[in-house]
Amino acid sequence: MPKKAYEIVDHEYDVVVVGAGGAGLRATLGMAEKGLSTACISKVFPTRSHTVAAQGGISAALGNMGEDDWRFHMYDTVKGSDWLGDQDAIQYMCQEAPAAILELENYGVPFSRTKEGKIYQRPFGGMTTHYGEGAPAYRTCAAADRTGHAILHTLYTQALKHKAKFFIEYFALDLIMDDEGICRGIMTLNLDDGKIHRFRAHEVVLATGGYGRTYFSCTSAHTCTGDGGGMVARAGLPLQDMEFVQFHPTGIYGAGCLITEGVRGEGGYLVNSEGERFMERYAPSAKDLASRDVVSRAMTIEIREGRGVGENKDHIFLHLDHLDAEVINKRLPGIAESARIFAGVDVVKEPIPVLPTVHYNMGGIPTNYHGEVLTLKGKNPETVVPGLMAIGEAACVSVHGANRLGSNSLLDLVVFGRAAAIRASEIVIAGAAHKSLPEDAGDNAIARLDKVRYSKGSKSTAQIRDEMQSIMQTNALVFRTEDTLKQGSKKITANYKSYKDIGISDRGLVWNSDLVEALELDNLRRQAVVTMECALNRQESRGAHAREDFPDRDDKTWHKHSLAWVDDKGEVKIEYRPVHMNTLNDEVKVFPLKKRVY
Ligand code: FUM
Repeated sequence: MPKKAYEIVDHEYDVVVVGAGGAGLRATLGMAEKGLSTACISKVFPTRSHTVAAQGGISAALGNMGEDDWRFHMYDTVKGSDWLGDQDAIQYMCQEAPAAILELENYGVPFSRTKEGKIYQRPFGGMTTHYGEGAPAYRTCAAADRTGHAILHTLYTQALKHKAKFFIEYFALDLIMDDEGICRGIMTLNLDDGKIHRFRAHEVVLATGGYGRTYFSCTSAHTCTGDGGGMVARAGLPLQDMEFVQFHPTGIYGAGCLITEGVRGEGGYLVNSEGERFMERYAPSAKDLASRDVVSRAMTIEIREGRGVGENKDHIFLHLDHLDAEVINKRLPGIAESARIFAGVDVVKEPIPVLPTVHYNMGGIPTNYHGEVLTLKGKNPETVVPGLMAIGEAACVSVHGANRLGSNSLLDLVVFGRAAAIRASEIVIAGAAHKSLPEDAGDNAIARLDKVRYSKGSKSTAQIRDEMQSIMQTNALVFRTEDTLKQGSKKITANYKSYKDIGISDRGLVWNSDLVEALELDNLRRQAVVTMECALNRQESRGAHAREDFPDRDDKTWHKHSLAWVDDKGEVKIEYRPVHMNTLNDEVKVFPLKKRVY
């Protein structure tokens, strides 16, 4: 590898955060606020991170518009997770939620307001009162239907105020791990001038988002390429619960863009070709506000059984044309615009054509509720990887278990972004000297970059990526069977291996999107193959993982997290980690396993 051809610029910080979405920015501002020298590296301008697309809101039991309690929120989240979520982490998130929202309000997030001037809250799927026995909870705090946009911009200005240093349009290549398994920093490429920047840090915090772009149709931005998960996998560390991929019931038919669950929270409903509000049959109590996995499966069944709408009977209608135009203008202006642009629909007069679309990865980099990355050492799957943290969708804390409830994602970002900042301030001494790095630190990252840069194979990035997305879309869908997954496993492994035949044409280093897309694909393919293998391995149905050949949840065998490693040949090894069935204190008791009915 012609190492001399690459100019290396060295940096030292107490902490380096990778990613500038909601989690990354919350961690960045928290760490800077606590006096740690903090760098935030992002491949896009911070306010273009995917959090900007979050619509419906952020959950917290504020009780502004009806009775609520963080314990109800905790119960709903445990139930939503199909009992795969770690209850200590779920308690932490739900109990911290009200303070986290008030903190956002103080930072300046322009939340919508009630008549009394309180933060406006709407109902969302699976959110109830009295442990599922009471009325729907008004728990999702909203800034109209642009909540992520409002939060992201506010957090960025706060991070700037606290003098965090931003490295914008830098692409993260690989972690610098030492021989003892300690993370010592990260290698990056400055997209603007092609220089390699090597960052040393006492903690590297991965806040790189999900890997939604392993699928053909998803609500995720094109930048959601699981860069953190890819780096972790290459470092020989495991990924957790990757078989659990969330389909949002209401992606716009064809375009895949998100239509917020907030539409159903404001009174919208789904109908089939017979004009029937079919959710009443599948979830008699929660109806259109059942959890997302339940609604997505019901829609898929309606279409399969010939009750889809449209010429090809292949989608469903979402009605909000009965709502007051004032509600739409005030609470849902963004989706009215999306429906007009992407479906040619005036929502005041016509229904929106929708279809379940990949939206969120419940799985990711395993962490504890402080944000510290975990691995299996000997028999201990709770071993902390020193120097490495992960937060947000990149991580699997696990608060969402087998299925995430809508509006718990923005909450996860800010609560665990803050938790990581608190932890870092406890374990990192500001300004402490860095151990010297081995001479060859980061060479493997440069070698991989160089190999892809000069690749001359017969396959383009787009060819390999299209094939990967089509395999995932066909074989790891809303419903799964042994047959489709076995077929998928063969195909995705072959697709994985075909990366050796990649060829790119731009050999430059400045704004080389040809190169960056190929590197992003390297991250995606690792997570695609793990997702497929873990889905094949888990012989039960739980949350978003619906096996038609194993239709029941099997707690005896499968009440455990999957931990998976993937090697450079695409071979996947799977082990397990117990689900935490304990709480943090006696303010709430563990919610024992029970059947999940809506
Ligand atoms: O439907 C939505 O607004 C999405 C929210 C979420 O995924 O949390």
